[in-house]
Amino acid sequence: MSSKRHLLKKLFKDGKELIDSEVLVKGWVRSVRKSKAFCFIVLNDGTCQGSLQIIADQDLANYDQVSSMINGFAIAVKGKLVESGGKGQSIELQAKEVEVIGETDGEYPLQKKATSYEFLREQAHLRSRTQTFGAIARISHALSFATHSFFHERGLYFLRSPIITAQDAEGAGEMFRVSTLSPNDPPKNQKGKVDHNQDYFGEETFLSVTGQLEAESYALGLGGVYTFGPTFRSENSNTPRHLAEFWMVEPEIAFAHLEDVADLAEDYVKYLVGYAIDNCKDELEFLNFRPRLKGGKFGDSPNGKEGHLEILEHVRNSNFKRITYTEAIEILSKADKKFEFPTNWGDELQTEHERYLTEVHFKSPVIVTDYPKTFKAFYMKQNDDGKTVRAMDLLVPGVGELIGGSEREEKMDPLLRAIEEKGMSRKPLEWYLELRKWGSCPHGGFGLGFERAVMYITGMSNIRDAIPFPRTPNSVQF
Ligand code: 4AD
Ligand code: MG
Repeated sequence: MSSKRHLLKKLFKDGKELIDSEVLVKGWVRSVRKSKAFCFIVLNDGTCQGSLQIIADQDLANYDQVSSMINGFAIAVKGKLVESGGKGQSIELQAKEVEVIGETDGEYPLQKKATSYEFLREQAHLRSRTQTFGAIARISHALSFATHSFFHERGLYFLRSPIITAQDAEGAGEMFRVSTLSPNDPPKNQKGKVDHNQDYFGEETFLSVTGQLEAESYALGLGGVYTFGPTFRSENSNTPRHLAEFWMVEPEIAFAHLEDVADLAEDYVKYLVGYAIDNCKDELEFLNFRPRLKGGKFGDSPNGKEGHLEILEHVRNSNFKRITYTEAIEILSKADKKFEFPTNWGDELQTEHERYLTEVHFKSPVIVTDYPKTFKAFYMKQNDDGKTVRAMDLLVPGVGELIGGSEREEKMDPLLRAIEEKGMSRKPLEWYLELRKWGSCPHGGFGLGFERAVMYITGMSNIRDAIPFPRTPNSVQF
């Protein structure tokens, strides 16, 4: 079948102009309903949420083949586009030719009507053909496009930060090693330890957990930059919110204090939400009715009545709450909920605490600032109290921590003290320290976990469903 393929996304948008003309569509069969003299084929080509109804008449030369197709067939259809009388659809196609391009049989895994998310994770190579994962993929695309437009509009430049690194910038010891030494017989040094001097880079190297340190270097040259790329963490957290490989967006701005960083974070999240509402309406409306709302806390709204879309609409127009860590601890210790983990000043906020604050107490996104320095990274600006740092986390319902950021310590002496206090090695950080020596200035930034943003905006409750091919402990298939 020659001539140019029409994408459904475009047909649904401009279809009215093409009424009565001949169009060619290609896609995958969602269903076939047979009646005596004709059959209805529902076709989706992945370009949008909507499917096209096709009427195939028994006069078709290959009608027997066409009418016995099942879900999953890849086909091409040429026909006349007509206005549709059917409910919820504006156009339909009267087939003149139907070509079967690829068949499926009864073993096609997406046969079953109710395919659970767990089952679909095992079919990650096929799940993009379902309505749910098609929607998530298109929303993810829109969010990444929106990310570039947001920062571009703000005058920040996109920075490709390196993926291979010698530094554990977050100091959490959760790095994947990168090495070309023989795993069975690595060279040893005089102390009997693996000799990384003989390794590819002449020292021990890892996949990076963040692009922040490099972003700081470029922010102090360009005024403001952002990274958007894969980051890797070998933390052994088998939770619905952790991946071993995830994408992070890390803006970094010069001549900025914590309030500026928090403002940027709030504006960015609202921009993402607004962009999704304006550009992915069909997808969000479809996901609005997904079973995630059942049983989960997600979907709790200030008046308990709103749906997911309404909550997003509300978020877009709201002001995020801002509290200090100390205030958060006060709220948590007065809460009537019994927490698994302690809530004394100095304790780390756990997911249960974060979710209580954002889902139960404030019922809105909340920015928590000024955390104890003990459990935050070395690079954060220290407050005069000697105990806390200018850190900020942005917490959202259904997810918990969506963003982590801070103002950076721009002075040499306190930064050196922090490196020493944390028992870190100074040598790999010499270049970073030089940024404090020559033309240092207040600056800061944050990191947004892209898949957590996808979770938040789609309403999916497991991060494994917010990335095409998740990497988690003991799971690297596909
Ligand atoms: O809070 P984190 O560790 O901050 C940083 O990496 C800083 N360098 C960011 C900066 O200031 N430039 O991570 C930032 C965000 C978290 O808030 C979370 O959304 C996400 O990254 N994140 C993860 N997402 C999925 N799986 C994991 N294992 C994640 N760890 C962090
Ligand atoms: Mg964090």
